[in-house]
Amino acid sequence: MTQKHLLTIGDLSADALAALLDDARAAKADPAAVYGALAGRSVLLHFTKASTRTRVSVETAVARLGGHAIFTRGDELQLGRGEPLADTARVISRMCAAAFIRTYSHADVEGLARHSTIPIINALTDDHHPLQALADLMTITEHLGSLRGKTLAWVGDGNNVFHSLAEAAALAGMHVRIAAPEGYEANPAVMATAAATAAAHGGSVLAVRDPALAVAHADVVVTDVFVSMGEESQAEAKLAAFRGYQVDSALMAQAAPTAIFLHCLPAHRGEEVTSEVIDGPQSVVWDEAENRLHTTIAVLRYLLA
Ligand code: CP
Ligand code: NVA
Repeated sequence: MTQKHLLTIGDLSADALAALLDDARAAKADPAAVYGALAGRSVLLHFTKASTRTRVSVETAVARLGGHAIFTRGDELQLGRGEPLADTARVISRMCAAAFIRTYSHADVEGLARHSTIPIINALTDDHHPLQALADLMTITEHLGSLRGKTLAWVGDGNNVFHSLAEAAALAGMHVRIAAPEGYEANPAVMATAAATAAAHGGSVLAVRDPALAVAHADVVVTDVFVSMGEESQAEAKLAAFRGYQVDSALMAQAAPTAIFLHCLPAHRGEEVTSEVIDGPQSVVWDEAENRLHTTIAVLRYLLA
């Protein structure tokens, strides 16, 4: 049997995605029911980038399952001093039940997964953030009742968080629209895969330039920071390129009256979103953040089953 991993949403079938979201809802409703799945076992978290939600949700998920989390920063494993990925993968596979990796290069998590006999879970790379997408779909379902046929508008950078959200929304049969400025569009290969997946499940994927076009009558409006981790040196150029891509009340007014606003956080009020929107009545960002915990519990249960 090949080892299951969660490197991208592409590792999940539509049925697995639906089952995982159901399990997350069950774990949220009855936290005590999941205790014990990781009793006596440890889970590695190796993060070379900062994190609040992902670290706290994964460590809490492991505790709720009765396991022990080992957190290491980039310079704390021998990997940071040149020990090969393959050797690291073999060693952690002998000791841990699973490993969550947050780093820059997506190829690094693929390399670890290739040599691991335990599940490797992508806790964010420059290209994908599957754990975030699962929490986002759970949150949309909680607030709108269902996913299939709903329209999700993304305003901003077409990178990691968008890639995974587009793939997950497509698998759930949603209509995905992205408005990104020139030079910051989503990866064309991800767009093609998401479009094919959406078509197979009754949804669609559309890229536009104008935020108002993306947001028109949408059920969900989503954005992310304009300057991602690792892009600090491009901050000035990116902030200039994204002028006109802020989610403000005027833009939200063009979405459906019942539309909800999502943001993976951390947020920069006054840049990608105004305080009025993120702290306003349509924002569900705190439910979204909490759901990182419940979906991570479901991911661990799914991968360790
Ligand atoms: N949304 C998210 O992944 O947040 P952190 O960077 O705080 O983990
Ligand atoms: N796009 C952001 C997401 C952080 C959770 C980044 O990569 O920094």
